[in-house]
Amino acid sequence: MSAPADLAGAGDEWWRSAVVYQVYPRSFADSDGDGIGDLNGITGHLDHLAGLGIDVIWLSPVYPSPQDDNGYDISDYRDIEPTFGTLADFDRLLTGVHERGMKLVMDLVVNHTSDEHPWFVESRSSGDNPKRDWYWWRPPRDGGVAGRSGGEPTNWESFFSGPAWEYDDQTGEYYLHLFTRKQPDLNWENPQVRRAVYDVMTWWLDRGVDGFRMDVINMISKDLRAGALPDGIARDGRVLGDGAPHYTDGPRVHEFMAEMHREVFAPRGSTYLRVAETPGVTTDHAVLYTDPERGEVDMVFQFEHVNIDHGVTKWDVAPLDLVALKASMDRWQRALATTGWNSLYWDNHDQPRVVSRFGDDGRFRVESAKLLATVLHLHRGTPYVYQGEELAMANVGYTSIDQLRDVESLNFFAHAVAEGADPEQVMAGIRAMGRDNARTPMQWDASQHAGFTTGSPWIEANPDHVEVNAAAQVDDPASVYHHYRRLIALRHDDPVVVHGDFTMLAPEHPALYAFTRTLEGVTLLVVANFSRAELALDHADLPDLADAPLVLGNYDSEVEPGTALRPWEARVLRSASSGSAVPSAS
Ligand code: NOJ
Repeated sequence: MSAPADLAGAGDEWWRSAVVYQVYPRSFADSDGDGIGDLNGITGHLDHLAGLGIDVIWLSPVYPSPQDDNGYDISDYRDIEPTFGTLADFDRLLTGVHERGMKLVMDLVVNHTSDEHPWFVESRSSGDNPKRDWYWWRPPRDGGVAGRSGGEPTNWESFFSGPAWEYDDQTGEYYLHLFTRKQPDLNWENPQVRRAVYDVMTWWLDRGVDGFRMDVINMISKDLRAGALPDGIARDGRVLGDGAPHYTDGPRVHEFMAEMHREVFAPRGSTYLRVAETPGVTTDHAVLYTDPERGEVDMVFQFEHVNIDHGVTKWDVAPLDLVALKASMDRWQRALATTGWNSLYWDNHDQPRVVSRFGDDGRFRVESAKLLATVLHLHRGTPYVYQGEELAMANVGYTSIDQLRDVESLNFFAHAVAEGADPEQVMAGIRAMGRDNARTPMQWDASQHAGFTTGSPWIEANPDHVEVNAAAQVDDPASVYHHYRRLIALRHDDPVVVHGDFTMLAPEHPALYAFTRTLEGVTLLVVANFSRAELALDHADLPDLADAPLVLGNYDSEVEPGTALRPWEARVLRSASSGSAVPSAS
């Protein structure tokens, strides 16, 4: 198969050396005092992002939405949520982004709509409405009683607790919602649905956006090969089962993605950024999604490394097993080494804060945040920074369900407690894993509500903002913010960071994360100490460090080559044998 004409030059697309910054608009900056972030708030802070050196902003959804899932439930794909602003505000934001040499990528949420989207309102209105088949409507299962537990067409559990089917007594059928009941799944089997989605995408590209982050896009093809949607396996005698094998990377998903490419991107002259969010994706499918010759998308968000500390569910938190984390990262680096591309992330709006999760947010907050950034950004792939990650924003330490706003945490708490779980135990899971940890207001300064709003914030700011905030860090060259800035500059300046081969070293070491990147005789060596104890650099796997100059480190003080790593210390060294100059990272 030869590369589609528009993909000529695959290998040096702009997004390979880019760093993406995710903005969660609700929590970024509130310009009008209503307590909710908005587009003008983002426009007012673009210099913070430009100063960091990032190339792309990914905007979480800003479309009209009942906000059941904070905008991931869209009721109009061609407008802006009024609490966030207007299309004119959006155009101003886009101009401001482009004027600063950055790009803007929209969130595309088309596995499902809001139940308040006119498509669904029509679809639900009668069994023979022309849009009926735009969603997944099914009668009760054989022998099941409509509207009663067990009557659902399949036993699938929704991601947000409870069955994935909602009974609608207007027509006596159920509709499928993998997420909340206000997020009905679109039926991608219907070509009219696909056409409507492609039209929406084209509309935004015509407006000037630079690509899309595609929400749970590997769930759009449900498995109909058995004729009907199959039940999932239920563990421990539970009634609800796991439907994921029947809608993850389903039978027609690659066909749909190829069609999307053909219909939306191929006719256009530019190279866009297309990143697919793909929970549960395998490396084999990831290669298919990201193979430039197939043209489906440019990179995927895989989840293996952020599931590493989960037990049976995400709420059963296990301590970080560094050996397992390295094995996972290494597996993905190798799987996409010759074909495809990785995206690299620790944080996003669905994950707890990485400095609390894999780092040490107490005494070594600064060092461990810089270490985590160093390790991630030196892998091969496109790094993503989630708002506040560049400040080492941390988890909140939630103690009461009243502090939370996220539908996932609220539903989980209600269901688990109703089933008899100990509320304290349930809160422990939410404290560690709850998505609201990532959704507290961006910490701009030490003032009330962290400078996020002059009003009353929709969710409380983390009290630690008095110390951890942008104002303090932008003026401090030793801050986490400036460390991110240096890492981003290093990627822009040094082709080894972008294109170099990746080799994991000392994979079995419980505290040392070490790897090399090599390109045309140049080697970068990254060594990082994931612990509070000093760590001697005498592991047999490590190359001789005696003469290797330091490119970047996370401690202020000078370091003697080859000396033991201090607590949470990370060093990036350039192999002396290369003879190349150390790139400027300041
Ligand atoms: C993934 C998004 O990142 C998450 O925030 C959302 O709840 C689900 N998809 C449903 O859209």
